[in-house]
Amino acid sequence: MAGKAEVRSSIVSSQYVHAQYGGVVPELAARAHMRLIVPVTRAALDSAQLGWQDISLIAVTYTPGLMGALLVGLPFAKALAFGLGIPFVGVNHLEGHLFALRLEYPDLEPPFLAAILSGGHTELIVVEDWCRYQHLGSTLDDAIGEAFDKVAKLLGLPYPGGAVVESLAHSGTASLGFPVPDPGGLDFSFSGLKTAVLYYLRDNPDAVGADVAASFQSAAVSAVTNRVVQAGKQTGLETVGVSGGVAANGYLRERLADIALQQGFRLLIPRPEYCTDNAAMIAAAGIERFERFGPSSFDLVAAARTPLG
Ligand code: KG4
Ligand code: ZN
Repeated sequence: MAGKAEVRSSIVSSQYVHAQYGGVVPELAARAHMRLIVPVTRAALDSAQLGWQDISLIAVTYTPGLMGALLVGLPFAKALAFGLGIPFVGVNHLEGHLFALRLEYPDLEPPFLAAILSGGHTELIVVEDWCRYQHLGSTLDDAIGEAFDKVAKLLGLPYPGGAVVESLAHSGTASLGFPVPDPGGLDFSFSGLKTAVLYYLRDNPDAVGADVAASFQSAAVSAVTNRVVQAGKQTGLETVGVSGGVAANGYLRERLADIALQQGFRLLIPRPEYCTDNAAMIAAAGIERFERFGPSSFDLVAAARTPLG
């Protein structure tokens, strides 16, 4: 049943407040959450033409993430559930990214291989069953989205940098030969690539920004395609799902599609608005967790880091 979940509304409030600082300022993020959580919830109900009394279950991210943001969202969800006399379910944000795949592909059945590529995580996972995961690899330093954001900053572009680096790369060529990161096994590493960009810009004051963007993007995406192919061979899984904010990148989507065709695996990537953070994916994960494990306890506490379990 959860597989057929229908999205009645999806409201995302992006925080442009961070752009002027070149990165997320935790205190400002927490304050923005506090200010926006009620209006955003109201807007979601209005656009679905539903009232508070129509809600039967609340799903909420309780980990991982910025503590200040979690400390607004989780108590808000608990209070709402308590006030309405309905259950709530705490969801791991990474599990939400996995369920974005099922939102887009309702018939998707585990097992499959999944890559989560976001601003805070770069993870390769086997989804053995919904809610049962095996960790294959992750980044040893920066997340891939973080690398896009840092390279954007080096190029004097605004935060968040992923989409702007992608659009600048359109007018450049990947001619600079930055090294494709390979820390071994099925792990990732992006800080060396970022440093290569830093040194290149330092040593070449007349560098063409578009070529730097294209060369960085090409190396970062190669790191992903290499790992996906390797993990596919290692596990024998023939379906690969990719999600998280960086999976909105058109160049990455094309490269993965080419490789899927070449290697003969089935590639699933949600539409861009389900790749980047959204509440619909948290709801989808919450429905499944509720059906399998029942409601969360009101004792549930927010945690900055919790592995996907
Ligand atoms: O999943 P997400 O929305 O939030 C986290 O859970 O972190 O991912 C945000 C990250 C940011 O680093 C952002 O720069 C990156 O995804 N991103 C992109 C693109 N759109 C968003 N990176 C590359 N190309 C894009 N088009
Ligand atoms: Zn995310």
